[in-house]
Amino acid sequence: MITISHVVALSNNNVIGKDNDLPWNLKTDLKHFREYTTNKLLIMGRKTYESIGRPLPNRINYVVSGTISKIEGAKVFRNTQDAIDTAIDQCNLNGKDEIVIIGGGYLFRDTLEVTNKLVLTKVDCNIDGDIFYPKINFSNWEKLSSTNFSKDMDNEYDFVVEEYRRI
Ligand SMILES: NC(=O)c1ccc[n+]([C@@H]2O[C@H](COP(=O)([O-])OP(=O)(O)OC[C@H]3O[C@@H](n4cnc5c(N)ncnc54)[C@H](OP(=O)(O)O)[C@@H]3O)[C@@H](O)[C@H]2O)c1
Repeated sequence: MITISHVVALSNNNVIGKDNDLPWNLKTDLKHFREYTTNKLLIMGRKTYESIGRPLPNRINYVVSGTISKIEGAKVFRNTQDAIDTAIDQCNLNGKDEIVIIGGGYLFRDTLEVTNKLVLTKVDCNIDGDIFYPKINFSNWEKLSSTNFSKDMDNEYDFVVEEYRRI
């Protein structure tokens, strides 16, 4: 079975973004993001693509947009369903077993129903923002792992990385 996961960092009040950027500096979480996503197929919304500013190297980049039709180094889809259908075909063709949705708010909302794994970085802060992760009913999810990280010179807040699978 193909895993469709969300990889997201969210605050205690579910903020994931502000002014088309991340609202924190967490170097260790960026490293975790790079390691988790490398060699996988990623789907993102147009605004997240623009906020990153380039296709992510060593990963297959799919971007969902109704306004942009071509991006060098990425495949563009008119809607989320087309991106997921093509991603599933690609995985089956190439023997890959995971599709990672990397945001932002639109894409997470659009794909929550088909997602069977969550990789959440819970950032221990209540912060001002304009983009939110949807509320999750955790009774439908089993926690697989949890790793704590402490605030330090490279990381503005304490955070915990938790993995869940849908029950
Ligand atoms: N904390 C985290 O882990 C994390 C991760 C990723 C992003 N972020 C943050 O989230 C923010 C960006 O998120 P966002 O919600 O504003 O935007 P987004 O989900 O990245 O992108 C939204 C855009 O995607 C396209 N799109 C989405 N659903 C579509 C559909 N069903 N059909 C056609 N097009 C669709 C549209 O592009 P067009 O307008 O081109 O049609 C839409 O404007 C930024 O602040 C970013 O830093 C945070």
